[in-house]
Amino acid sequence: MAEIKFYNGQKIPLELHKARIVQKLHLVPIERRLEALYEGGFNTFRLNTSDVFLDMLTDSGTNAMSDNQLAAMMQADDAYAGSQSFIRLQKAVEDVLGKKYYLPVHQGRAAENIISNVYVKKGNIVPMNYHFTTAMAHITQYGGSMAELLYDEAYVVDSSHPFKGNMHIEKLEELIQQQPGNIPFIRMEASTNLIGGQPFSLQNLRDVRAIADKYKIKLVLDASLIGENAYLILKREPEFKSSSIGEIIKKMTELADLVYFSARKLSSSRGGGICTNNHALYKEMETLVPLFEGFLTYGGISIREIEAMTVGLYETLDETVISQSPSFIEYLVNALHEKGVPVIRPAGVLGAHIDAMQVCAHIPQTQYPAGALAAALFLVSGIRGMERGSISNQRDEQGNETYADMELVRLAVPRRVFTLSQIKYVEDRMTWLYQNRHLIGGLKFVYEPPVLRFFMGGLEPTSDWPQQLMAQFRKDFGDSL
Ligand code: F0G
Repeated sequence: MAEIKFYNGQKIPLELHKARIVQKLHLVPIERRLEALYEGGFNTFRLNTSDVFLDMLTDSGTNAMSDNQLAAMMQADDAYAGSQSFIRLQKAVEDVLGKKYYLPVHQGRAAENIISNVYVKKGNIVPMNYHFTTAMAHITQYGGSMAELLYDEAYVVDSSHPFKGNMHIEKLEELIQQQPGNIPFIRMEASTNLIGGQPFSLQNLRDVRAIADKYKIKLVLDASLIGENAYLILKREPEFKSSSIGEIIKKMTELADLVYFSARKLSSSRGGGICTNNHALYKEMETLVPLFEGFLTYGGISIREIEAMTVGLYETLDETVISQSPSFIEYLVNALHEKGVPVIRPAGVLGAHIDAMQVCAHIPQTQYPAGALAAALFLVSGIRGMERGSISNQRDEQGNETYADMELVRLAVPRRVFTLSQIKYVEDRMTWLYQNRHLIGGLKFVYEPPVLRFFMGGLEPTSDWPQQLMAQFRKDFGDSL
């Protein structure tokens, strides 16, 4: 797709869609936002959308749906078994992901549950480029552990490396040699979420495949963000500069034995799935779908969503759809970087990722700098981001904290949801907060659930820093919201 150039020379991501259904937003006063933080335990997951202005928590289930998706939902063939809607979805999975056998599940983590249930045995190790919270929770639930095998460059915040999600090939081979028979599969995650939505290259995936073949180990691909990874391959890997998104996606999926995904991301709908061309693998997992999810022709997904998923899968192949979020993210990342705000570079997908370790260098990891920054940003702007740091980690078997490699605040940019002036507001408030960062203080847990604590955990500030920050806001912005 040719880049649209502006006469004034500025690099502005132009929206190639128009809004035809809109939702009113609420920008409540900072005093109300402070109350909301206390009510929600300083955890942005526990905020109410009536208090949130720009919801940048996630792109999961929040991408804008297209007119064609909505229209398709109206022609759903509601049936417990043998629905024609499911048959259309199966065909879309085969057309887009190149896999014949498809098991529907209600969302991505349900796929992780089934794969871990069937393949992970106590003591197993799963090598992966990097973990995702739910993938790790399921692998450990079945007694396994994981080995994260990224190159050092992946952890460099301000980098120009185009493929920070690449798997470290030498470390992978070394691990396999040390653990003969103990590796149920290798997991590769497209657009590696927790290190800032960073892609891997197709060459790297080929190299992983070669190792998988050499040692006869299955390769599992988490394709939740495969469209965006394919888009960055198109942009950054010279061999594929003339390929289409569809061709790149197929080249990626054909290298994997099993592909699973969250349709909440991949196809801007709900749902998920596992797909393969290997009938034996399909059979090994098949019986768990009716057990955990629902009958094999809906897997816990509403039939209307199945229709939306089908259309959404095909729309993933449209570069104007798939490039929208990454181009807004790039714009935001560059703008923040120019203002000196430490942010993961190069710009990845899913969202802009602020480096809380640097912004809140004065807050020790024991007091959760990323959680504190996410709360502070909400307070001064109504922007809801997500903590992706130590709060999102889980404790080890002895109950000790495991501090995250990176303390990030993710500001998700769901597809075709925000306008450029809203993105400029994010830039403005984040820049102000950065300049007043010394006012941000730490957090401590007051309620800590044993599993996936970041979702429902409750925290409180270690001092009256939120009040101090609010006072500074009032001083600088007067009676502005
Ligand atoms: N894999 C990846 C790479 C994901 O980003 C997610 C979800 C999942 C699996 C699980 O899918 O939510 O449908 O069960 N990521 C969301 C996020 C939650 O906000 O990044 P799910």
